[in-house]
Amino acid sequence: MPVPVILDCDPGHDDAFNILLAAAHPSVDLLAITTVAGNQTLEKTTLNARRVCEAAGIRGVPIAAGAAGPLHARPQGVLVAEHIHGSSGLDGPSWDAWESGPGAGFGHGQPTVPQDPRDALTLLRETLTGHPAPVTLVPTGPLTNIATLLLAHPRLTDRIERIVLMGGSVERGNTTPAAEFNILCDPEAADIVFGCGVPVTMFGLNATHQVRATPEVLGRLTALGTPLSRLCVELLTYFASTYREVYGFDAPPLHDPLTVAHLIDPSLVSLVRAAVRVELTGTWTRGATVVDLDGVTGLPPNAEVGMDVDADGFWDLIVEAVRVLGSA
Ligand code: BDR
Ligand code: CA
Repeated sequence: MPVPVILDCDPGHDDAFNILLAAAHPSVDLLAITTVAGNQTLEKTTLNARRVCEAAGIRGVPIAAGAAGPLHARPQGVLVAEHIHGSSGLDGPSWDAWESGPGAGFGHGQPTVPQDPRDALTLLRETLTGHPAPVTLVPTGPLTNIATLLLAHPRLTDRIERIVLMGGSVERGNTTPAAEFNILCDPEAADIVFGCGVPVTMFGLNATHQVRATPEVLGRLTALGTPLSRLCVELLTYFASTYREVYGFDAPPLHDPLTVAHLIDPSLVSLVRAAVRVELTGTWTRGATVVDLDGVTGLPPNAEVGMDVDADGFWDLIVEAVRVLGSA
């Protein structure tokens, strides 16, 4: 039976590939997509989710907008990652000009794939209560929507099979020396998620930095020769340019799809059980995930944490997803 999944995301280049992977693979039943402010504003991440679905021919998956900012407003305003994902949140392709096919209606920069009239909280609740089996939540942005759900409907934890998220690190951060972007955007939300009692699996930077979109990967995608594969190459080329400028990386890490890749093939990433806490008050460390790999705190494990990744197996899944959707 395919794993029933809700993606909660902030597309975002790597979020976009996670949507493709979840929609393409027969082991995943993509029930809904909810969006959150993160890589860009909520308006932009929601438009981007619709753009990705339009481009890939993904129809019938409801897309609803959620939180426009963290649980507790930051004095500096909402944090976005424009320096990585660009002013649209999905820079690289010429979205206004891109056509997914005759009559796709893309010429004016507005996808025909609609935004669901419900808000993300309602879509999450109705999807969880309406599905016959417990559902896996896959957050790949700030955790505000998921924390809001847990606060508003604590009993719905019965309807959640597990939470498989991209965020944090067992090592250093990428937005401050200590904190990873998704967790730093809303540390209080992350604290609620890690403490909610539902099984949590965390793929942090220590794992996601092992899946780099190398020139060889771009070559494999280019060789597919479809409009969708060209779009993917444009996205990754832009992503590579910002990762080179900002972090000096030779090739950019495609963080978010490690979540769905794990659901498809659990052997791709080794996991360890550990106590994970989110730093809420540190002067220099707010938003850090403190992962007790050695058990020195005596705290019981509350999460599984991704460690060693089979990068080749991961990229095989991504390339196959782009092939399947691009030839549909
Ligand atoms: C995370 O932050 C975002 O920029 C990416 O989409 C990913 O979810 C990596 O720190
Ligand atoms: Ca993301």
